[in-house]
Amino acid sequence: MNICVLASGAGSNFRELVRSSENGLITSHISLLITNNSDSGASIIAKDHGVECLHISRKKFCTISDDEFSAMFLHELISRKIDFITLCGYMKRVPENVLGHFRNRIINIHPALLPSFGGKGMYGMNVHEAVIRSGVKVSGITIHFVDGDYDLGRIIFQKCCEVSDDDDASSLSEKVKKLEHQYYPLVVRKFEEGKVNFAGDRVSVKQTESQN
Ligand code: GRF
Repeated sequence: MNICVLASGAGSNFRELVRSSENGLITSHISLLITNNSDSGASIIAKDHGVECLHISRKKFCTISDDEFSAMFLHELISRKIDFITLCGYMKRVPENVLGHFRNRIINIHPALLPSFGGKGMYGMNVHEAVIRSGVKVSGITIHFVDGDYDLGRIIFQKCCEVSDDDDASSLSEKVKKLEHQYYPLVVRKFEEGKVNFAGDRVSVKQTESQN
């Protein structure tokens, strides 16, 4: 598969996917990064690893209409024969036509156990602060399909971690990041192996697989 990653920020999950492709953990080629933020860490990682990077933002293309913008976005993906899209901290809405074209081939990772702690405003440290404030004893990661609504697409995979009494948002975020880096590539591998059941089964990733 040819994978396109959409990212806006630091890009640590993008980096893990690129590394996993380089070391053969996944067989897909991470062939394109699209970022809405030309200063993103992700764009530096792309450069370091020789991944093509496109800076596509509404601001940069402010003279064209919304429809033209969406058409251009989709064209960039199709012309590069992209098969699959992974979101890694992408802070913009994915255009409707892209969601339609890549139905069940576009996934996101969220740093908490959806459907809790998702939706508008639930990104970055906001998520972990809300988790700590709530007093729940577990948090974790959710990998899900992307549809039109924030964090509402069908859940593919979840992994939890303990929220200890002495955790704060920052220590929790580190625990969660570790899980993200460990499992996002493995879930992509499940897609490559055809093991994601689009009828709704969750993906099972055994602990031993994550240690390979
Ligand atoms: C991750 O925590 C991911 O769950 C969320 O955005 C964050 C991106 O982090 N969607 P990074 O840019 O990959 O480091």
